[in-house]
Amino acid sequence: MAFNIAIDGPAGAGKSTIAKKAAEALSYIYVDTGAMYRAMALFFLREGIQPEDTEKIQRACEKIRVTLSNEKGEQQVFLNGENVNGQIRREEVGNMASATSSYREVREKLTQLQREMARTTDLIMDGRDIGTCVLPKAQVKIYLTASVETRGRRRFLELQEKGEDCDLEKICEDIRKRDEQDMNREIAPLRQAEDAVLIDSSEMTIQEVVDKILELVQKAAV
Ligand code: DC
Repeated sequence: MAFNIAIDGPAGAGKSTIAKKAAEALSYIYVDTGAMYRAMALFFLREGIQPEDTEKIQRACEKIRVTLSNEKGEQQVFLNGENVNGQIRREEVGNMASATSSYREVREKLTQLQREMARTTDLIMDGRDIGTCVLPKAQVKIYLTASVETRGRRRFLELQEKGEDCDLEKICEDIRKRDEQDMNREIAPLRQAEDAVLIDSSEMTIQEVVDKILELVQKAAV
């Protein structure tokens, strides 16, 4: 049986940075499920579909095929065969992904694909519902969080480094809105699984969090 590590938590908690490093240390595949929701959101945006256009979203789901590949340790996401890695990181796409991930049709499509990957492959998968819904039997489950202020500040510095214009207050407001949407949707909302270990990274370095995860993996593997 494959060894699965589930990492869930709110936007900006550092899940992908940490999961990537832990996966590297373990020689596991890293699967970023948010990127899959973003690829679907990109399709809706391109089609001019609004998040509240229920019927259009349901119909569009039938036309979408999301696939992943791993190139030199980096996950690549394909939307109907097109590599969309470079386009899914925009704020607009993230907000659309948060809004449209509440649809059953969207979730079922991606959940199925995620379970299929985890069945045969040792991996670290991060998202919002991995420990609670996608992989309830994952051998290690982490709920990684940090305060809104810490997450906002990290995002602010990241954008500043890229030379982008940004406003800390607006970033924090977006984070609060995203938390609210992700935690309060009807299907598979973001919450800590009962058997998940809570890690609050507000006062921790990246390496400290990675080490904590590796320690949990070691314990679970014996
Ligand atoms: O992790 P991220 O910011 O790339 O995710 C974008 C959105 O996708 C997030 O706000 C909610 C949705 N998502 C989800 O509903 N379930 C997941 N397993 C991963 C992401």
